Amino acid sequence: MATEETYLDRVLTMEVGRCTEAAAVAASTMIGRGDKEGADEAAVSALRSAFNKLEMDGTVVIGEGERDEAPMLYIGEKVGTGSGPKIDIALDPLEGTTLTAKAMANALAVVAMAQGGTLLHSPDVYMDKIACGPGYPEGAIDLDASIEDNISALARHKGVETSEITLCVLDRDRHEPLITGARKMGSRVFLIPDGDVAGVFHTTEQSTGIDLYVGQGGAPEGVLAAAALRCVGGQMQGRLVFRNDDERARAERAGITDLNRKYLLSDLASGDVIFAATGVTNGTMLDGVKWEPGYVNTHTVVMRSKTGTVRYIRARTQR
Ligand code: FBP
Repeated sequence: MATEETYLDRVLTMEVGRCTEAAAVAASTMIGRGDKEGADEAAVSALRSAFNKLEMDGTVVIGEGERDEAPMLYIGEKVGTGSGPKIDIALDPLEGTTLTAKAMANALAVVAMAQGGTLLHSPDVYMDKIACGPGYPEGAIDLDASIEDNISALARHKGVETSEITLCVLDRDRHEPLITGARKMGSRVFLIPDGDVAGVFHTTEQSTGIDLYVGQGGAPEGVLAAAALRCVGGQMQGRLVFRNDDERARAERAGITDLNRKYLLSDLASGDVIFAATGVTNGTMLDGVKWEPGYVNTHTVVMRSKTGTVRYIRARTQR
């Protein structure tokens, strides 16, 4: 039987893309229907069926919620045939439920897989995040520094004025101080309505023009984004944010003892990881699902940290 490592190497790297394709195709049937829960349910059910065809002893470590609140793909759920190697899975079957319901850009189906115990078992709370793409010295950005200092540092390392730095930020009232601070430095702020896995990933592609991702979003999305960055390079730091005792209790159930810890990229995703995303709606980096009579077209990226391989896959499958 294949070891975890060779299975991740040779088999799952290709299979994981089939899983996100299935989730994206299912979600695409709900684009523009104003039903974000329905869109999510379609993606969850398709992803679970796809996982259960894979020969693995998979455990969902980042999922749809805790067991009592999510009927499928809850944290701790076993997926796969159960007979293969032990694999930890982080997933977001539909990253951007509102984007899908409103037919807006950049909704994705996203999965990361890794050897057991190497992904942060994050509770479903918020996370303060900062990320930049590859090519900067380690420590160029710091979650605990001011936005002004982070922008200045990036501009210095990039050899440009701060007016040439572009940030990506979720468009939320809580980010007003960040946005104001960045604009005072003359920097551009690219506001996104939702979808911060894509937001973080944008920093890794020069063509997007985005240098820095900052702000507070979902912690599970933080782990998924970290898995993607591990594959292509870049830096990221995050800290969990707790709004009440229930959220602190979630962290304790997930085995987290230091609630104030600053996580580095290697803490969020420490081992060999594979990451796949399929576009649901059209996006900056992936096209959305396109239907034609008898066929459906998908656009997927599959990446692997061990080799740094990035595969873009366009699939046309019969329906
Ligand atoms: P959903 O796919 O669950 O709708 O999440 C979208 C998202 O924008 C995430 O990308 C982000 O991390 C989170 O929501 C931000 O949360 P909030 O909308 O509460 O600010």
